[in-house]
This record gives sequence, C-alpha cells and structure tokens, in this order.
Amino acid sequence: MEKDLKETLDKVARFYDKRKVGEVGALGFRRSTDLGTLLACMDRMMDEGLIRPHESLFLDLGCADGRVNIFLSYLVRYSVGIEMDEWTLEEYGPLKAELEQSLEKNGLLSPRENIFLYHGDSSDDGVHERITRETGIRFHEFDLFYTYLVMHQEFAQLIAARAKKGAIFMVYGLHRILPLYDGLSLLTPISPVEGVLALYQKD
Ligand SMILES: C[S@@+](CC[C@H](N)C(=O)[O-])C[C@H]1O[C@@H](n2cnc3c(N)ncnc32)[C@H](O)[C@@H]1O
Repeated sequence: MEKDLKETLDKVARFYDKRKVGEVGALGFRRSTDLGTLLACMDRMMDEGLIRPHESLFLDLGCADGRVNIFLSYLVRYSVGIEMDEWTLEEYGPLKAELEQSLEKNGLLSPRENIFLYHGDSSDDGVHERITRETGIRFHEFDLFYTYLVMHQEFAQLIAARAKKGAIFMVYGLHRILPLYDGLSLLTPISPVEGVLALYQKD
C-alpha cells in the first residue's frame, strides 16, 4: 500500500475509532467496526487478491453511519451501503464533513466520490433496483458483501441465491466459532482474519 494511502487510512481509522457507537449501552445493535483492525484485514485481503484495488464493488448490508463505506472508498471502485434506520444514516454527512476537514488540514487524501448510501432493508428488491438505477450496479455484480453480524444468516442466504460465483461475504465480529452457510464456503485458513473477520466465498 502506498505511503499516503496508508497514512490516510490510519487517520480515517483513528477518527472513527474515537467515535464508536454501541460499545456499551442500549445501542449495541449498531456497534461500529474497529477500522484500525479492519485496515489490517484489508491489507491481508489485498495480499490474497480478494480485493482488487479500484476494481472491486463493495456493499455494506447495514452500513449505519457509513464509516466502513468511507474507509473502503479508498480501496474499491464503488462503495455502496444500505441502512434501515434513517436517523443513523443521517450521521454520515456531518461525520464525513468533520473528517474531510481534518484530512485536509493534515494534507491527506479525501474519501473518493464513489460512495452511495441508501435508506432501506438490505434484502429488499426495491432497494437493489434503486442501486442499479443510480450506480449501474446489479446485485449479482458486487464482489464484496459486508456485515457486522446483523442478519448474517439471512444475508448469507441472499448472497447464496443472488450473488455471482466467487463473490466474498465478509462477516465482522466473529471469533472462535465460525458459522457455516449453505451455498458459501468458509475461506480457510485465512478466516477469521485478525481474529475477527470471517470470509466466505459463493460456490
Ligand atoms: C452493528 S451495525 C454495523 C454498522 C457498520 N456496518 C459498521 O460495521 O460499523 C449494524 C447496522 O445494520 C442495520 N441493519 C440491521 N438490519 C438491517 C437490514 N435488514 N437492512 C439494512 N440495515 C440493517 C442496523 O440498523 C445497524 O445500524
């Protein structure tokens, strides 16, 4: 990874990791990915050829404030997210504006203009159709799907039924016990990357 990109991703990770949601208290259902840890995972996935820089198409199924989308925007061609709670999605803009100011002050790279976030249910065909209309990407063209544990069984079924062969399902928040899903193969021995991210490939 180039030096300015690495420095930028470190900064983005530190920015969001200071602003995590749901570590304690009532907002546990929308816990935030630790982007410092995700950076190490992305390095490994790029080394393994599982992310093709500026080519892969990424979809976060339950993106909350879009922090994983901002992070991935530097690495993929399109970084798309779907979030069910409108008020959670509304945090995206103000946080991004604050991040951009801080990046600019430090002479670092801004997030790329390839982020598209949608309000709705990740398993809703209507939302998938909106994504296709606005980005040109059909569900079966995404290379990488992501969830922080929410509805992972339902999303695995959706990916098994609708994604293309070889697509990767990234499930963050797992540790020792890794679930198996019909139609997807757990990528071993790499999983769980950094002890937290399980990778599955559509058969
Ligand atoms: C644990 S948070 C993870 C947020 C973000 N992906 C991250 O890793 O930092 C999961 C989010 O998924 C949302 N969610 C749950 N089920 C969903 C669904 N079916 N479609 C869209 N969003 C959903 C929740 O509202 C919550 O904001």
